[in-house]
Amino acid sequence: MIRTIARYGARQAPGAWRHALKALFSGQGVRGPAIGAFERRFAAYHGLRHAIATSYGRMAFYYILRGLELPEGSEILVPALTFWVVPEMARVAGLRPVFVDVDPRSYTLDPRALPAALTERTRAVVPTHLYGQPCDMDPIVKWAERHSLFVIEDCAHALGATYRGRKVGTFGHAAFFSFQLLKGLNTYGGGMALTDDDALARRIRSLVEAEPWPSALSVFGKLLLGWLQQVFISPRGFTVTLFPVFLIASFFGDRDLSAFLWEKIRRLDPLPASYRRRYSNAQAVIGLMALDYLELWNARSRNYAGRLSEELAAIPSLEVPHPLPDTEPVFYQYCLRVSDPASLTRRAIRRGIDIEMMHVDICPKLPLFASEARSCPIAERAAETRQLPVYAGLRPSDVERIVRVIKEISRDLPPLRTGAGESLAHGCSD
Ligand SMILES: Cc1ncc(COP(=O)(O)O)c(C=O)c1O
Repeated sequence: MIRTIARYGARQAPGAWRHALKALFSGQGVRGPAIGAFERRFAAYHGLRHAIATSYGRMAFYYILRGLELPEGSEILVPALTFWVVPEMARVAGLRPVFVDVDPRSYTLDPRALPAALTERTRAVVPTHLYGQPCDMDPIVKWAERHSLFVIEDCAHALGATYRGRKVGTFGHAAFFSFQLLKGLNTYGGGMALTDDDALARRIRSLVEAEPWPSALSVFGKLLLGWLQQVFISPRGFTVTLFPVFLIASFFGDRDLSAFLWEKIRRLDPLPASYRRRYSNAQAVIGLMALDYLELWNARSRNYAGRLSEELAAIPSLEVPHPLPDTEPVFYQYCLRVSDPASLTRRAIRRGIDIEMMHVDICPKLPLFASEARSCPIAERAAETRQLPVYAGLRPSDVERIVRVIKEISRDLPPLRTGAGESLAHGCSD
């Protein structure tokens, strides 16, 4: 049977699903002791005092924003290249997102672009450790301190990554994490708010505890949906389901059909009812087990990324990721700049390798943020990137195959016109 390689792989500790089901069927699927245990271990993993589990990563962000009690209409600086829900949740919390351009090498928030976005209404900045690459935190934190701004780290992609030997999520006033299916720690949805500030933690917890518990049936539905999605992206499942569709589509234009599987970009005000729920005990059971494997999984993705960079760095049509010095990324995604991204994607799927087109959004370009639109030239260049599979579930032989195929199909692509280090104008402009 042919073996294809899906762009995603979900992480799951052996037996985790069975243990979660056991919790559900013993009446501890919704409430139970695993939630507190997971929160305590998560906080201890970061060496901080408070972790509060939430229904989504975005809700952790929302509770942090509410907990900070910022005046209505305050401005909050977010990277132009991020998942659209982040600036949208800021709006739901009554704030105005202001987009800031990203660094041309790491695609993370560029500290040099911050001053141009500052106004007297700015109250917070959100460094996003995009694709598992830590942002340049020292200049960001220093600048934020100088202007008395809160720093809220978006660690949705970066659980376990370090900057100068310290874990991301520990640099700001608070941080949030996502436990969606494809994230570094998968509990089939959910998120976590992290902070060392006792008063902020108390306010976040009281907001979280005011939400209703989900029903056992909806927890079961979440696990079941996650399991089904996992089947679709497993090597065998992908080969007989999505792969033939993507393969045929590659002969009819360059549309990314996976876009249909993503969440619809939309206003989130009022918040959907499913957001306003507590995190369940069954999910926490899975999270606790996943924490035992996190370092191993991260090391595996990091090794695979190292192997890809080693082999692909010298190809003129490609530019491999450039992590900042003294950082240890976790490679949630392996982001490659390509001279002809559509051609690379098309040729790869015809060789059985599925490549991710744009995992996040160039937010100022979205109609949803028409009123916040600014020109952010570096973030806009992310349209030239693709993300290669680098997840922990790959076999080493899969990675060698990716190397071989990408080398072959990128050989005759035109060279990249500009290098990442080039000096483009920094900062978004109105
Ligand atoms: C960069 C980033 N931030 C925040 C989130 C939100 O996480 P969640 O989907 O758990 O709400 C995501 C989700 O993919 C993300 O990619």
